[in-house]
Amino acid sequence: MYTPAITGTGVFTPDQVITNAELVKAFNAYVDIYNAEHSDEIAAGTLPAKDPSSEEFILKASGIEQRYVIDKTGILDPHIMHPLLRQRTDDEPSLMAEMALDAAQKALAAAGRTAADVDAVICAASNLERAYPAVAIEIQDLLEINGFAFDMNVACSSATFGIQAAADMIRSGSIRSALIVNPEICSAHLEWRDRDCHFIFGDVATAMLIERSEDASGPYFEIKSTRCATEFSNNIRNNNGFLRRSRPDGVADRRDMQFMQNGRKVFKEVLPMVSDHIAGHLAETGVEASDLKRLWLHQANKSMNDFIGRKVLGRVPEPGEQPNILQDYANTSSAGSIIAFSKYSDDLKDGETGLICSFGAGYSVGSVVVQKHG
Ligand code: COA
Repeated sequence: MYTPAITGTGVFTPDQVITNAELVKAFNAYVDIYNAEHSDEIAAGTLPAKDPSSEEFILKASGIEQRYVIDKTGILDPHIMHPLLRQRTDDEPSLMAEMALDAAQKALAAAGRTAADVDAVICAASNLERAYPAVAIEIQDLLEINGFAFDMNVACSSATFGIQAAADMIRSGSIRSALIVNPEICSAHLEWRDRDCHFIFGDVATAMLIERSEDASGPYFEIKSTRCATEFSNNIRNNNGFLRRSRPDGVADRRDMQFMQNGRKVFKEVLPMVSDHIAGHLAETGVEASDLKRLWLHQANKSMNDFIGRKVLGRVPEPGEQPNILQDYANTSSAGSIIAFSKYSDDLKDGETGLICSFGAGYSVGSVVVQKHG
């Protein structure tokens, strides 16, 4: 048995930012156009008027201040309201592969490694750009990695489930190391015309190199243990898929072809699931909550993270104990907890322990207990 360790991480951040002020201005312009175009039906009471969004609500309800996106021009055009992403030819790298490549190269550099040291690539993300060939195999090819690669999707929990898959393979000896990449183009699955959720998501890619601890060339985080759990729920759902074109019911405009959620229910049901999951995982691993120096939580909502932090630690977390990045990145699905880990883990001291935890659609929850060495 080998001991798996996270030896390097990397984050690709798109260069375009949308602030809440820009977002709300574009959304409200769209609402004005929509209400004017449908003024007869609205006056006759056959169609409800759309309500404007507000910066105050967004900040208070979510803690989000801005989001990075691949293309803001389409999203902020009230006549378009979605990103405009150029169709690439089959000879070009796909967008997800390109984003993941940047993050992966940063993770390799942080670990002091090259692609020659990698045996496997797992592309773990909420939305995959195509059915096949796997995006992971394209990334493997771009990096010239020998070995194998595969895609997996557990929505917001994809990264932690990916860590468990890689850690188990490393423990058993079937591979020496794996790159886990999480390219998330959430802007393309979000319905930017829906006031209830138009502020939620952003784009990013994260990467982690996981190796045998004995191979680490610098400081590393030993993966002490992992736990994954799922429970079926329709409260976060996206019905888009490859059967779309075979349906005779005009799917093009169907709202359920984009991200849908019953946010209130998610809040109510996921919080106890996550708190209980973490408590069970810590107990089985023999780690006390008081041993945890840091929590790197899924980045969907500030109140949710405040609640989980309080529940896990049994007190209000000190500043820095539970770092949030959602104010800058919004919800980046599976990548959120890994951005937090990548940006806020270097200062942990030798022997200190922390917990990465992600949760979301499925429902799904994945947690990883890590210990700093070096
Ligand atoms: N601007 C202004 N007001 C808005 C608004 C907006 N953009 N969106 C909704 N509102 C209004 C609603 O119409 C509602 O008004 P009412 O009380 O008069 O009916 C009120 O604000 C509250 O709306 P609600 O949807 O109940 O807000 P909330 O406090 O539950 O916050 C979420 C919404 C989505 C931020 C929150 O439910 C959440 O974060 N849930 C979990 C999300 C999550 O983790 N999802 C996982 C995705 S992977």
